[in-house]
Amino acid sequence: MKPDQKTIDPAILVIFGITGDLSKRKLLPAIYHLFKDDLIPKETVILGLTRQDLTEKDILSNVELCINEEDGICDKAALKKVEDSLKVIQIDLSKMGEFKKLKSALDYLDKKAKVKMNHLFYMSVPPKVTENIVSELGKHGLNKENSRLLIEKPFGYELNSAKHLIKSMSAYFHESQIYRIDHYLAKETVQNILIFRRNNIFENIWDSKHIDSIAITAYEKIDVEGRKDFYEQTGALIDIIQSHLIQLLSVVTLDMPAEIKSESIHKARLKALESLKPISDSLVPKLSIRGQYTGYKKEVGNHNSFIETFAAIRLSSSTKRWHQTKFILRTGKALHEKYTEIKVVFKPNREDLEHNYLIFRIQPHEGIKLKLIIKEPGFNKKTKNATLNLNYLEENIDVKHPDAYERVIIDVFRADHTLFSTSHEILASWKTLDNIVKSWKASDNGLLEYKKGSHGPVTDQLY
Ligand code: BG6
Repeated sequence: MKPDQKTIDPAILVIFGITGDLSKRKLLPAIYHLFKDDLIPKETVILGLTRQDLTEKDILSNVELCINEEDGICDKAALKKVEDSLKVIQIDLSKMGEFKKLKSALDYLDKKAKVKMNHLFYMSVPPKVTENIVSELGKHGLNKENSRLLIEKPFGYELNSAKHLIKSMSAYFHESQIYRIDHYLAKETVQNILIFRRNNIFENIWDSKHIDSIAITAYEKIDVEGRKDFYEQTGALIDIIQSHLIQLLSVVTLDMPAEIKSESIHKARLKALESLKPISDSLVPKLSIRGQYTGYKKEVGNHNSFIETFAAIRLSSSTKRWHQTKFILRTGKALHEKYTEIKVVFKPNREDLEHNYLIFRIQPHEGIKLKLIIKEPGFNKKTKNATLNLNYLEENIDVKHPDAYERVIIDVFRADHTLFSTSHEILASWKTLDNIVKSWKASDNGLLEYKKGSHGPVTDQLY
């Protein structure tokens, strides 16, 4: 289905790091689908920047554009559109003066286009490089009102570096030009949570009086897959919890605004994030668990590494609505199974009754489950658990929804900020986690080892 129309103006999408993993696995396949479904204007230009001497053909021969096609069949017309739209220039960002090349390429493409083009700069590069690129763009006058920045996380490495990054970007770009990507917020089921919460039967019991815990889990089967430099600088807490999971938590716990509009959603998300209590130093050991899979040190070539590949934490809120509910966020690499879900556990009316719970399954097999207690059929009075299961596939709900990166790109084309994080949201999430980050950086105390393919460290102590 076509996105709700806000104007989708033609643009030059400049990809810094076109040969990188993200570009190959996510961006270029997303662009292929957007062309296939006629969702981006035909004048769109993809301008790929690389240090290497590569042609457009070289780049495309290294990418599986149709990787997300369910039937595996590539659409020839869409492939041609990608080929025609892609231009590559060789540019070494570490050298002075190289940005002039980019400026002239953009001037040339602007003149050639018969319509006014926006400039969308996608930073598919390590975070340390992003800051420099952004200031060079500014210094070269590439920060005019038709320019937008797409930034990948991590947005800083702790509170201070996040503050610094935000400040240095704001020297050249206005907040409304910056799109901080959180691709989890762009997942279809996540957006559905806001709509689901409009069902009054749940909204009326959406508080600490009725909900014991909300556990958000994002487990992965893959290990760090060669992203050793990135991972050695981040780890599971920063890579997934500080960004994706804490944002999911804000969506689940926010006070529903009357209208689902970008500004009101941002306000409500910020309020939810700001109400999370920072974990104090003394509580770090009690409220957090970290682990590293066996073999990680060898894989990254750092025998002293105590970067965590598994992280679980418990947070709480200072609001009246949520003050007694436990918020548990867990993530890990190289585990038994890949799944992301949000489990809302309700309090039983009586001690001897079991908990009801509601699960939002985000991936794979997206759907919503409600666990209820029913009577076992027969003469006895025994009860059993039964599950009401809304399985998108079985219900024939169109599961061919856009991939999160398609959504991200479209929203930047049409300047819709709803699914992106504001600088205030970023700072609020860092404030909550800053002490854990610092304490985990300081020593390997409490770092648990777990086997690849296992369930990871036990997290019962957090409940
Ligand atoms: C990214 C992380 O943001 O999300 C990766 O940097 C992780 O480490 C990925 O593998 C998971 O995304 P998804 O959409 O496959 O759950």
